[in-house]
Amino acid sequence: MRRRKILAAGIVFCMCMRSLCACESQQLSGEDKVRVGVAYYNQSDTFLNELIACFKEELQSFESDDLEVTVTVRDAAGSQRTQDDQVKEMLDAGCNVLCVNLVDRADPSEIIDLARERDIPIIFFNREPVAEDLMQQDGLYYVGAEAEESGIMQGELAVDAIRQNDRIDRNKDGKIQYVVLEGEAGHQDAIIRTENAVETLKSNGIALEKLSYQIANWNRAQAQNRMEQMIGQYQNKIELVLANNDDMALGAMDAYRKLNYTESALPVFFGIDGTDVGLQAVRDGKMAGTVYNDKEGQAEAMAKLAVAAATGEGMEDIEFENEKYIYLPYQKVTPDQIDEFLDEEA
Ligand code: BGC
Ligand code: CA
Repeated sequence: MRRRKILAAGIVFCMCMRSLCACESQQLSGEDKVRVGVAYYNQSDTFLNELIACFKEELQSFESDDLEVTVTVRDAAGSQRTQDDQVKEMLDAGCNVLCVNLVDRADPSEIIDLARERDIPIIFFNREPVAEDLMQQDGLYYVGAEAEESGIMQGELAVDAIRQNDRIDRNKDGKIQYVVLEGEAGHQDAIIRTENAVETLKSNGIALEKLSYQIANWNRAQAQNRMEQMIGQYQNKIELVLANNDDMALGAMDAYRKLNYTESALPVFFGIDGTDVGLQAVRDGKMAGTVYNDKEGQAEAMAKLAVAAATGEGMEDIEFENEKYIYLPYQKVTPDQIDEFLDEEA
C-alpha cells in the first residue's frame, strides 16, 4: 500500500515537472520534432537523387513554429551492410522516422529489427520489400509505383511511334528488331517493365524480333558499354531500344554518338522516369518517349506519411492500399506534351 502511494506521488511529481519544463522553456516536445533519417542505396542513381531533393523540399513545407523538421541522408554506396550500420547510427542519433531505399530489397530484416527495438516507423521507398517482410509488424510502409503500369505505358508509346513512322522498320521486313537494357536483376522494376512493354507491343499486333538484352543496372555508363557490345554484334540491324530507365536509354544514345552513327541509322529509344536529362532528350527529339515516374507525388506522400507517423497525427487522412502501400501513377511523356512536364520541373 505504502509503496503504491509513493509510486503515485512520484508519478504526479514527474507530471508536474514535465509540464513546468514545457511551459518554462517553450521548447518543442519530442512529438513536435520530426527527425527523418533517409537511407538510400547509391548516390550515383539519377532518379533517386532527384526524388530525395523533392522529398527534402516537401518536408520543409511541413515546418512551422509548432513543428521542427530535420533530415539526415546517408548513401550506402551499394552495400546492405553499410546501410544497416547507417540506419543504426541515425537511430542512435535520435531519428524518429526512417525512410529506407534498401540496397537489397530482399534483406530488410536487420533494419526492421532495429526499428522494432525502438518503436520507430519505417517508410520503405522505390525498392519494394517483399510483402511478408512488410506485413510482419505495424509501422512499416511502402511508397512507390507499379512496375507493370510503366512497362505497359512504354509499350504503348512504342506502338504509337511504330504505327506513325514506317521508317522505324528500317529494313522493311515487317518486324521490329529490338534490344533491351535492363535494370538490376531482382529489382521489382526491371523484368516486370521489360515483360509488360514487350507484351503490349505484341498484343497490339507489332511483329517483333528480339536481338539481345543486357543488364546495365540502371546506370548510364554501363548501358553505353553494353550497347557498344550489342552494336558491335548487330551493327545497324537494331531498330528499337527499350530501356528500363532514362539513364540507360541515354547511355545507349551515348554509344551511338561515340561510334559516329548518322541520324538515319539510329534506332528509336524509349526510357522510363522523366528525369531532368531524360525530359531534355525527349524535348530535343533524341529520345522518342519516356514514362514519368512521379517523384513529386512520391516525395509528397513520403513527407506526409513521415510527419504523420512520427507525430501520430494525421494518419487517418492517408489512403493506403492494403493498409501499408501507397502507389503513385505513372504518366506517358511524348514530344507533343513535353512542355507540360518541363514546366512542372521548372
Ligand atoms: C527507377 C530507376 C532507378 C531505380 C533505383 C527505378 O524505379 O526507374 O531509374 O535507378 O528505381 O532503385
Ligand atoms: Ca525490321
